[in-house]
Amino acid sequence: MKKITIQNIKDFKNTPTPFATLTAYDFTSAQILDEAGIPLILVGDSASMTIYGYNTTIPVSVEEMMLVVKAVTRGVSSSLVVADMPFLSYQSSVEEAVKNAGLFIKEGGASAVKIEGGVNVLKHIKSLVGFGIPVLGHVGLTPQSYNQLSGYSIQGKTPNEAQKIIDDAKAVEDGGAFGVVLECIPDSLAEEITNQVSIPTIGIGSGKCCDGQIQVFHDILGLSKKPPPKHAKQYENLYSNVLNIVKQYKFDVEKP
Ligand code: KIV
Repeated sequence: MKKITIQNIKDFKNTPTPFATLTAYDFTSAQILDEAGIPLILVGDSASMTIYGYNTTIPVSVEEMMLVVKAVTRGVSSSLVVADMPFLSYQSSVEEAVKNAGLFIKEGGASAVKIEGGVNVLKHIKSLVGFGIPVLGHVGLTPQSYNQLSGYSIQGKTPNEAQKIIDDAKAVEDGGAFGVVLECIPDSLAEEITNQVSIPTIGIGSGKCCDGQIQVFHDILGLSKKPPPKHAKQYENLYSNVLNIVKQYKFDVEKP
């Protein structure tokens, strides 16, 4: 199968149909997504919750993310794998950003990295891209700023907030990123940004007007015990299906 490149992802900007992307955190799910033709797989720092059981994305480390990135890249032959850079693996300096992003590419086998922020990480994006490391941006609700944002709520509801998110998305574009995730912003703002930037926008909880969509694997499958966020369509409740199978297996083994 042909390997998807960042140019293929950029080309989605000019296609009439939106493209579907998902997160993955292990070999098996990566194989499934790859076979289904998902062009971009994000090894999200949501692994902090889905895989490691932390409450937010803040605690997960480079080492913990590296394990899941390696597992995913082993399962993929075509999809572009993007490694999400965890909190404080890039913010403190451009040098840290290059060093850690380089590890995800060199050792993890990812083809690109994702970092959160806009104007505040413009120089980081420019340096990474300058050193040959493709970057996916992420603006709007940036979960690594959970404490500063006082939780996970829709961002960009006031004109000032909306303008800041537009500026951030443009900074991501100016830095040379090949795409930008728009998380939990009003649909109209996502549409405006999608029309204003030349790189594909990938929405989550930001309406239908983005160039592509992303969801967390566990949310669309109902794999987590707690209900998914409102913006995620849950296609199955695998948590309770698997629970029933395990109970049935236990019953079968224990029956006289
Ligand atoms: O970590 C993640 O899963 C993400 C997506 C929700 C965009 O950043």
